[in-house]
Amino acid sequence: MNSILFKPRELTELKDLVYKTCGINLHDGKLELLKSKVAKRMRLTQMDVQQYLSHLRSNEREVIEFIDTITTNHSFFYRENKSIEYIVRQFDHHPKKETKHFKIWCAACSTGDEPYSAAVQLKALGLSFSILATDISHSVLQVAQRGIYKNDKVKNVPLPVLHRFFQKGTEKYKGHLKIKNEIRQHITFKKFNLISDRIPGSDFDAVLCRNVMIYFTHQTSEAVVNKLYHALSTNGFFAIGNAESLMNMKHRFKAVAGIPSLYVK
Ligand SMILES: C[S@@+](CC[C@H](N)C(=O)[O-])C[C@H]1O[C@@H](n2cnc3c(N)ncnc32)[C@H](O)[C@@H]1O
Repeated sequence: MNSILFKPRELTELKDLVYKTCGINLHDGKLELLKSKVAKRMRLTQMDVQQYLSHLRSNEREVIEFIDTITTNHSFFYRENKSIEYIVRQFDHHPKKETKHFKIWCAACSTGDEPYSAAVQLKALGLSFSILATDISHSVLQVAQRGIYKNDKVKNVPLPVLHRFFQKGTEKYKGHLKIKNEIRQHITFKKFNLISDRIPGSDFDAVLCRNVMIYFTHQTSEAVVNKLYHALSTNGFFAIGNAESLMNMKHRFKAVAGIPSLYVK
């Protein structure tokens, strides 16, 4: 618990800042979380509320550090894997698979579990591919670049895949696994804000944007979905999280029958 007293207008300013910067809508149930995160940043920067707010207004770096503490980065390997499995299978059935280079964009990749999960499945089939993995948070991107994970994060990975593409940690890395370079070399990690950055291309064969829109308002999600539509080539796949929905949104995707949360352009 924190003992700092926030004025309602200070909380509103903080909520608005989070919403404007990353699209995350902190409803009243999240106010305690917001307060405790601000208190932590204030302690670290040794500022009071007013000083911290004016610091945030004028310092983009601090905004990013702050957003880092607000975002939910939970992820694990092979999470909601049905849509990835389906995409990989379709790539494998592609008539030009011997010569085609498949391009995937993981648009909220968190600590890398999702792009690495896709990569090991594509690699196992010998397909040529590259993955652009992006996130707003630089701290998660650092973790992703290292590619070292606690054993429990990979417990859904089939054993043969685990043996082939992960190295067991020893000594200080006991209980951890490291993704092999032959997988990592297919992935480029980059910072990208779904709300404010321009799409990095328009020829992706699949875009995964999973378990992030759940934190956005309906209006923000609709804008993001339509922006990502333009990042895909014709017949490209668009995957969202199982708890997310495109219902009541204006969009041009077609649902893939039998695979929850998967769409095609
Ligand atoms: C819960 S994780 C989802 C990770 C992964 N896609 C999965 O399904 O396991 C949500 C991620 O979205 C990122 N995020 C939040 N707002 C964002 C934004 N505006 N632009 C890009 N990434 C954002 C967070 O930093 C976090 O890493």
